Order: sequence, then C-alpha cells, then structure tokens
Amino acid sequence: MSDLETAKQESRVFSPPAAFVANANISGMDAYNALCAEAEKDYEGFWGRLARENLQWHKPFTKVLDESNAPNYKWFEDGLLNVSYNCLDVHLKNGNADKVALIFESDAGDVSKISYKDLHEKVCKFANGLKSRGIKKGDRVVIYMPMSVEGVVAMQACARIGATHSVVFGGFSAKSLQERIVDVGAVAVITADEQARGGKHLPLKSIVDEALALGDCEKIKDVIIYKRTGGNINFVAGRDLWMHELVAPQSNVCEPEWVSAEHPLFILYTSGSTGKPKGVQHSSGGYLLWSLLTMKWTFDIKPTDVFWCTADIGWVTGHSYITYGPLAAGATEIVFEGIPTYPNAGRFWDMIQKHKATIFYTAPTAIRSLIKAADGDAKIHPKQYDLSSLRLLGSVGEPINPEAWMWYYKHIGGEKCPIADTFWQTETGGHMISPLPGVTPMVPGSCTLPLPGIMTAIVDETGHDLPNGQGGILVVKKPWPSMIRTIWGDNERFKKSYFPDELGGTMYLAGDGAIRNKDTGYFTITGRIDDVLNVSGHRMGTMEIESALVANPLVAEAAVVGKPDDTTGEAICAFVVLKRSRPTGDEAKQIATELRNWVAKEIGPIAKPKEIRFGDNLPKTRSGKIMRRLLRVLAKGEEITQDISTLENPAILEQLKQAQ
Ligand code: WTA
Repeated sequence: MSDLETAKQESRVFSPPAAFVANANISGMDAYNALCAEAEKDYEGFWGRLARENLQWHKPFTKVLDESNAPNYKWFEDGLLNVSYNCLDVHLKNGNADKVALIFESDAGDVSKISYKDLHEKVCKFANGLKSRGIKKGDRVVIYMPMSVEGVVAMQACARIGATHSVVFGGFSAKSLQERIVDVGAVAVITADEQARGGKHLPLKSIVDEALALGDCEKIKDVIIYKRTGGNINFVAGRDLWMHELVAPQSNVCEPEWVSAEHPLFILYTSGSTGKPKGVQHSSGGYLLWSLLTMKWTFDIKPTDVFWCTADIGWVTGHSYITYGPLAAGATEIVFEGIPTYPNAGRFWDMIQKHKATIFYTAPTAIRSLIKAADGDAKIHPKQYDLSSLRLLGSVGEPINPEAWMWYYKHIGGEKCPIADTFWQTETGGHMISPLPGVTPMVPGSCTLPLPGIMTAIVDETGHDLPNGQGGILVVKKPWPSMIRTIWGDNERFKKSYFPDELGGTMYLAGDGAIRNKDTGYFTITGRIDDVLNVSGHRMGTMEIESALVANPLVAEAAVVGKPDDTTGEAICAFVVLKRSRPTGDEAKQIATELRNWVAKEIGPIAKPKEIRFGDNLPKTRSGKIMRRLLRVLAKGEEITQDISTLENPAILEQLKQAQ
C-alpha cells in the first residue's frame, strides 16, 4: 500500500495530553471554534484586531484590507511599522534585554549565547554599516550566508533600514546565484568566506565571485564578507569589504525606518512549473503578524521555551521560524550551523538534551534518515539521550508518512508531545493547515484543520466545492495577511499561477492536491498537481532540471519526473536522449555521473538526478508531446497498464524500462 493510501485509511487518533491543553495558548476545540467563528462573522474585524493586539505600530492603520486591485491584495497599508523594531526593540522595552535570543551551536559544537540586547546592538551597528555604503529603503540585498548569528543579523539589519533582502540558500550554484542577483536587481551581496558543514569547509565567497563574473551584475556595488573560517579568499579592492571592519566604527543606535505594512520585506525565489524560479514577494506587516501568531498558536510559544527550527535561513521556514517569528515572540531559539549526521546521526538528540529544547521543528526527510541511522547504530538511538525537555514537535516541508510520524511521536516525543504537521508554502508566509497542540486530536499523516482565519477548501478543476472524501485541488478562498504579494517583476505570472481564471480568478491555488476525511473533515495533502517535485522537502521544478540538462553539449533532449523514495520523499529521475548514440554499460554510468555533476554546477547539488536513463528517444504523442505520465510509471519500475494508443513510438518504452 502506498503512503497515501495508508494515510487515507489511517484511523489512529492521538489526543493532546490534558496537561498540555490546560496551559495552551489556544485551549480546547471551543476556543478554536470561537476564533474561526469570529473570522467567519467579521473577517476584516478579526484580522484588524489581531494586527492591533500583536504588533507595535508607529502609525496605526485605518483600513484592514484593500481588495480594489485583487488579487494584488493589500493589508494594513496605511499603517507604519518596522519589522526589526517588532523583533528586537519591543523586548528591550519589556524588560527582556538580558534574555537569551539565540543559542548558536557551530558545526564543531562550540556554543555561544546572544541576548536580545546584544542582538539589537549587532543589528543596529550592521544596519548603520549598510547605510554608510549608501544602501537604503527599497534597495535589494542578496544574502548568501551560512547558518549563523550573522545571517540573522544581516536579514534583520535589512529590515531595519527598509532594504528588501533576498536570501539565496548556500547550496545553490554560482549560476543560480547570478540569476537571482540579476532578477532581483541587487545592489549588494552579503556572504561569508566559507561555511563549515559536516567537518568540512565549503566555499561561499568564491562562488559569489564566480556568479558576479557571469555578467549583468553591474548594479552590485558591495560584497560584504563575514569572516567565518578564515579560509583564503580573493579580495576585490573597492568592491569587497569585511563585515567586522564595516561594523567596527558604527554607532549602536539606529533609528528604524518606518515603512508601510505593504513594504516588501523580502523576496525569496522558489521553483514553479516553468524553468525560471519565481521571486515570491512578501510584505512587512501582514507577514510579520502571521509569523508571530503562528508561533503563538501552532507552537504555543511561552516565555520559558527553547525553540529549535532546524531549517536553513535560505528557505522560507528559516525566514518565518528562525529570523522573524521566534524573535517577534521574544523567544529563546537555537541556531545550528551544521548537519544532522555530524559528528554522528545523534547530533539533533544530543543538542536537544544539551540545550533543553522544548519545541523541535524539523522535516520528515530528516526524521526518516535518522530512523535509518538509529536502527543501524544503537549508540545514537534517541533512547540514549534525555529528551524529556521536549513538549511539542513539528514537521514541515512534505507529507509525513504515518510510520515516520509514529516513530517521531514515540521515540522523540516520548508519547507526550503533540506533533504539529504544518502544511504551508513559500507563498503563504506561514502555516496554513496544522493541528493546534492544545486543541486538535491528531491523525498520523494528516495536517488536520486550517488555522483560524485561513479559508482552505477542496475544489474541482472548475472551482466547485467537492464533498469530503473526494480528492481535488487545494485552494484558499479568501486572502490572508501573510500571502504572497506578487512575483517580483512579473505580476501577470503571479495572477496566472495563483489566481487562475479557470477557478474564477479569486481563489488562491496552492498547487497541491488534497482530500478531506469524510467524518472529521481533516485535510491530507496528496502531493503537487503541477510539475514541481519535493525532494527532501525542497521544491524543485522539473523544467528547471530539464533546462539544465539540455544546456549540456552532449544532451539532445531530457524529461524529468519524480519517483517515490523512502528517505527523500521523492527522487529525481531523468530520461535523457544524447546527441550521439545511446550509451550502455560503463560508458552510460560515466556519462550519467558527468551529467549529475553538470546539474550540480548549473543549479546546485540538491538538483542532482538520483537516476539517469538513456534512450534513443522519449515516449511522445503523435503531435510530439512527451508523455510524462508514462515516464512516471517507468521511473517507479511498474508495468504500464494505461492507454498508450496515442503514443507515436511504443517500442521506446521497453528501452527506457531498464535503469542502467
Ligand atoms: C509541501 C515549505 C504535506 C507541499 C514550507 C507544498 C507539505 C510545498 C507540507 C511547499 C506538509 C509543505 N504536508 N506537504 N506538512 N508542508 N508541503 O514552498 O507540496 O518549500 O506545496 O515551503 O511543500 O514547499 P515550500
């Protein structure tokens, strides 16, 4: 049985422990229902109240939602605020200046703790440094940094001066970095000399050099370098400067730039179904409101918590649940530089024990690989560690299969921690569908119910509601404050991708399929309905990988599909036609390796196909369209039972059946 079928039939129910419910920020189903009813009854009143109660406004807003230019919705637009002020200054004023904001643990295991006061000072000084370079409100700044205190500081400093940051994950290639620098029109790049991961030093600054050398980056005036490892780097006079030298002479007072709630806080690139990544633009006010509220609601954050989100700041999870949400909530959080398997696969459990983490948020992929590791080595099994500090667990990025859920529940949570299986996306800014830990009885593999104010539904291709029990397209029927504002530089694409005419132009299309349970109405996500793969919780567009492959001089044609994988959720499988004859045996292996490395260079190692199969051709219809659904079946290693009457060249299937 597939994971999806198991999930659909899953009937085990786990209620939140009574003690948890009693103390929860939202306690019990009645409290949840009351919030949902408030949103139902007076949608704008609901969001207006929350925005007034949860954020500090320099100038209050007078209008909650402006729908006049839908789907370019505007929230709290005439209100003025500053995100960094709401994440830092408010806590200094509340007597929490000496509270630990960040517990940083390096790859090698060194620990440093930064108070809110220290973090505020670092951010102010760096913000002044940026200003001294002429960087100002509205400028775009690319951040290509390792997991570090300085990475968080860089993002917060941009927010403080109203510069819009665009963080590029440190695993992306020079070419991917250059494309983002060009598309976003950045004036500066903030990077580090190198990053330390798994006991190795990996380059960052030299990749920035390579990216800038690819051209079209004339707008870049500064490359600011955080000295992380002290490794050798090339230094371009007049362009490159050390972060510590820039910061040293700066004042620790930096008046925040008060911006409209609609001011773009950041642009984060993500994969879509075409070759070109989309620059998802987020706002300041609405975005911050939701990252803070979901900390309170989904993560039940309390002043005594030690929160740990294992994501990288290069992904949206790191934005909302490392840089912004936890700090806005005044929490103490762990920032981890390294990887879960170094020095061994007990690293996460060791860190939870050491720092007495109370809330732990990670991805199913990590859980699955750590299950395997623990099964193989009793010494690093979670039972060897004291994980009793934990009170709540979270999962994000991909569907969690019931087996992994059960293991997480039992071995990490000790059967006493609720699990928040949070469904959301880069575009949604924060959680959309998730159990609330003091409210929702949990069913493994189901993300259960939408958060209050989030109007999710399941519809057919024409936008009509489907009854529970029938799978369909996941949509959101009303705008919400932290939603994507536009695709940077391409508003038409924004409208077409997310508010398609087929659905009436008013519903947000998530791009995922889903089904609701007949009895409970619980949502289960059934996976993407577009050409986007989810590999280890990372979104990858099949077209992006195909374009990278065909850019190789050897390749004539390529088609990429996903295949189920026990650890990574989905794995990338590429079907390739070379310009020369079809290789076999060792030669095929060697060319496959070459192409894998090529893709790593073009996009980044995360996009490397796990499997490459060579054919004389690809299965096509008579009109020349590649029949991907057949390739998906072949990739899975299953027999083709579908109709192939429209297939031009049936013989090709036999050839592509065998993995080389
Ligand atoms: C998938 C990550 C099932 C989904 C925050 C979505 C999930 C895509 C879950 C967004 C979940 C995320 N259950 N699927 N709990 N969370 N997804 O933009 O396909 O990197 O559309 O944002 O991940 O990925 P993104």
